[in-house]
Amino acid sequence: MLYYITIGNMDRSFRIMEKKASSFSGQIGFVLAAAGSAVGVGNLWRFPYLAAKDGGGLFLLVYLVLVLTFGFTLLTSDIAIGRRTKQSAIRAYETMRPKWKFLGILTFLVPVLIMTYYAVIGGWITKYAAVYLTGQSAAAAEDGYFTSFITSPVSPVVFALLFMGVTAFIVYNGVEGGIERVSRYMMPILLVLVVVIAGYALTLRHEDASGQMRTGLEGLRYYLTPHMEGLTVSRFLQILLDAMSQLFFSLSVSMGIMITYGSYVKPDVDLNKAVNQIEIFDTGVALLAGAMIIPAVYVFSGTEGMSAGPSLMFVSLPKVFNAMGKAGMFVGILFFVTAIFATLTSCISVLESITANCMEIFHSGRKKTVLVLAVIYLAASAIIALGYSIFYFEVQLPNGSVGQLLDIMDYVSNSVMMPFIALLSTILIGWVMTPDYVIDEMQRNGETFRRKKLYRVMIRYVAPVMMLVLFLQSTGILA
Ligand code: PHE
Repeated sequence: MLYYITIGNMDRSFRIMEKKASSFSGQIGFVLAAAGSAVGVGNLWRFPYLAAKDGGGLFLLVYLVLVLTFGFTLLTSDIAIGRRTKQSAIRAYETMRPKWKFLGILTFLVPVLIMTYYAVIGGWITKYAAVYLTGQSAAAAEDGYFTSFITSPVSPVVFALLFMGVTAFIVYNGVEGGIERVSRYMMPILLVLVVVIAGYALTLRHEDASGQMRTGLEGLRYYLTPHMEGLTVSRFLQILLDAMSQLFFSLSVSMGIMITYGSYVKPDVDLNKAVNQIEIFDTGVALLAGAMIIPAVYVFSGTEGMSAGPSLMFVSLPKVFNAMGKAGMFVGILFFVTAIFATLTSCISVLESITANCMEIFHSGRKKTVLVLAVIYLAASAIIALGYSIFYFEVQLPNGSVGQLLDIMDYVSNSVMMPFIALLSTILIGWVMTPDYVIDEMQRNGETFRRKKLYRVMIRYVAPVMMLVLFLQSTGILA
């Protein structure tokens, strides 16, 4: 009898120890894991598209100003809340103010939704990496290739399950042994790859059918020059809103992920430096992604060729790679490997955030929690992957676009919930807890929090107003 009780207690205290012991090894490990979460498809397929659409250098300027003010405010808040409470979203908000637990639950639901489709996108990317590795770059460039792939009822499911399985395996191995270890080698390699591809894109030249020669350098100029022609107030506001929604999707804020990662940061790490480095990494990769994609698309299809989202990555770029001739297959491999690294490190952060919340709520161990979640999300990924074939249907979304299963999940989580959560959490920190709650954590070891004044103004006044406008705009209320 006694024997069993002892075993039971040992088991429980072991679990508690395991939870407490979860942490990143130090600043670099944390920064690379957080950058891994931040750098994702948003940097690769959304940032370059927005830059091309929203006036090139003009968009870049607006974006940079927003990163240093608004992005910095949200990222700092999330990470500081995480480290101060040592908990994930649900418990963190509850610890701050029990009445605000609902906001923690809402925040937790964002990764819960995103997880249903992120591995599906990862699966598409893995499929394309396989296509290029097996030398089928010409086939991938054919019209209708992508459509016929995603509407097939087998292949997208297989790749989604594979991606989901690898994600679960990494999270199963823990914070330092899984997430940090993978991020430590994937993120530096990713950085080198985008630099190499961008460098190559600048050397491209191509003469089109009408005899017009276009070069990569001209494409770069097009990307960097602020295009002010026809700029009106309403167009400028649109650019501002585009940059803002891109920014907080890109930094993985307002979805509890940075709270969870923050809770694993050791007390002696300087959060000021860490926040700066994460911002620089994420923004740097976005800028480089623009410098690799815009010139390449420009050289082969002019300024009209830029599209957004999946069609940029899976339709336009394969045509560009094919037009590069022999080198194209090689560049295609490098590009899709880059994209796998970006997506995988983001995907593990989504699953980790769900896992950490569940471990705290159900007092369960990591391994068991991950196994249960893996079963649920393997099923969910399969269903979403079939959203273009067996489960195909279309709905009109409130923001005017037409979507199917994956778009609905994306719309609800990113366009409705995230701005709403950001709005409420700026009110909670700015007015209920007061900004000192975060500022104290930033200065825990006597560091100086340089942008303290800016932080106070942003969190109390500017960010809530901006988030309200973004929320009204993306839900179609303010059309
Ligand atoms: N930050 C990621 C990107 O820029 C997106 C992401 C969303 C990551 C959700 C994790 C969770 O693509």
